Amino acid sequence: MSEFEKFKLKDSSELKAKLAEMGLELPFSSNTAVLGESVDLGRWSLPNRFVVQPMEGIDADPVTSAPSDLTFRRYRRFAEGGAGLIWFEAAVVSKDGKSNPRQLMITEENLDIWKRLVDETRQAARDKWGHEVVLVLQLAHSGRWSKPEGKPVPVIIHHNPVLDKLAGVDASYPLVSDSTLDAMKDDFALSGRLAARAGFDGVEMKAVHGYLTGEMLCAHTREGRYGGSYENRTRFVRECSAGIASELGREHFVTARLTMHEPSIYPYGWGVQAVAGSRELCLDEPLKFARELVDLTSMPLFNYSIGYPRTSPYMNRPFNNPIAGAAVPPEHPLEGIVRFQNVGRELQKALPEVPVVTAALGWLKHLMPEVAAGLVEEDWCRLIGQGRGSFAYPDSVADIIRTGNMDPKKCCLACSLCSQIMKDVLGCNGCPVRDPDIYRKELKKGREAAREKGLP
Ligand SMILES: Cc1cc2nc3c(=O)[nH]c(=O)nc-3n(C[C@H](O)[C@H](O)[C@H](O)COP(=O)(O)O)c2cc1C
Ligand code: SF4
Repeated sequence: MSEFEKFKLKDSSELKAKLAEMGLELPFSSNTAVLGESVDLGRWSLPNRFVVQPMEGIDADPVTSAPSDLTFRRYRRFAEGGAGLIWFEAAVVSKDGKSNPRQLMITEENLDIWKRLVDETRQAARDKWGHEVVLVLQLAHSGRWSKPEGKPVPVIIHHNPVLDKLAGVDASYPLVSDSTLDAMKDDFALSGRLAARAGFDGVEMKAVHGYLTGEMLCAHTREGRYGGSYENRTRFVRECSAGIASELGREHFVTARLTMHEPSIYPYGWGVQAVAGSRELCLDEPLKFARELVDLTSMPLFNYSIGYPRTSPYMNRPFNNPIAGAAVPPEHPLEGIVRFQNVGRELQKALPEVPVVTAALGWLKHLMPEVAAGLVEEDWCRLIGQGRGSFAYPDSVADIIRTGNMDPKKCCLACSLCSQIMKDVLGCNGCPVRDPDIYRKELKKGREAAREKGLP
């Protein structure tokens, strides 16, 4: 491991030198035009290789869970930015699964507002770009991190000593029962049907970052139908994805954002070596499961992530500044970026017929396009996801497609302030640095409340 360092690279030759000094490799290409190419997804087609990764905005109406004016603004900006696919953020399938009172949820009662959001997002892309954007909705339950009314009400799949402590539960805290999980499949199926009626092209069951379905994959110590064997741990996501796919038929698709590595020590993690106490990356089960999901539901594309935001955020969003009170990462951000891209490369090899979407490139700032083009040319992945970059600089896509470059003054600074807003829970989420008129005061709400409570 190399020591943590903030971004201070001027150009791609400095980036290449830094990688060489650290013994790391990433592909590069100056042919950034490859990023503007259309991508065939069978019945669907993407106008370019850019994807807006799901980014929770915490701006739903707290009573109806419907998209608010701020939600409409965020998605209009994403669409006008030019990305070919917009992966809408985690929307919960039941109120008890909200990570905060302002998390989105699609319901029969608020369906018309969702329809309008979908229509306006599509229209914004048409007006600005003349292209048809593909829209996916991420369906979620926050599981262990549920705070439906702002206070924790964890729904846990298994006991993990480290995460139990962080979630404030002890060994006597009850696990969610198999029968409750059986019933939750209906919640996912209903939300999938509503998403199709709202006009989304595809849906996905969020199985990343330690939320309910991600935690299921790790439940080696759980008994019953959803724990222990590989078959049982993957059952919920497999059966639920297959059920939704068969209900939605050929007009819509089911896809996945799957965690490839939850680095809790064995037997509490996923994508780790099956040796007691190990958290070494081992992709055997994640790759097998990705293959099964694609075969079972004919997924036209596949998204992934790694790491656990509460314990190893440096693995999924390498950054310059941690959130308040959190430790400085134990590694250099480039190590996180290279690990993430290497996992994507293995995934793309395992799914040769399906475009894989990468992420975690935000730290590279204006040096991202040459790496992204290299990743595509060398087939490490075929679609380039931007998370924080979509908050900070949604029209980076337009700049890259038209000029091959990003404006360093508009890039995300990987400062973690949007993650801070999410942790504080009180403000609506966006970029306080690059979109300050709205989001600086949203950041302030949470920061002031934390200070009043004596929290970092
Ligand atoms: C504030 C914030 C909200 C996020 N919300 C979601 C989410 O709803 N669903 C999800 O799968 N990932 C979520 N992510 C992770 C991003 O999609 C993305 O994987 C991550 O930011 C790394 O990519 P980047 O370097 O392009 O930002 C979130 C990340 C941040 C910082
Ligand atoms: S607050 Fe803005 S600049 Fe900072 S990490 Fe988030 S998107 Fe990037």
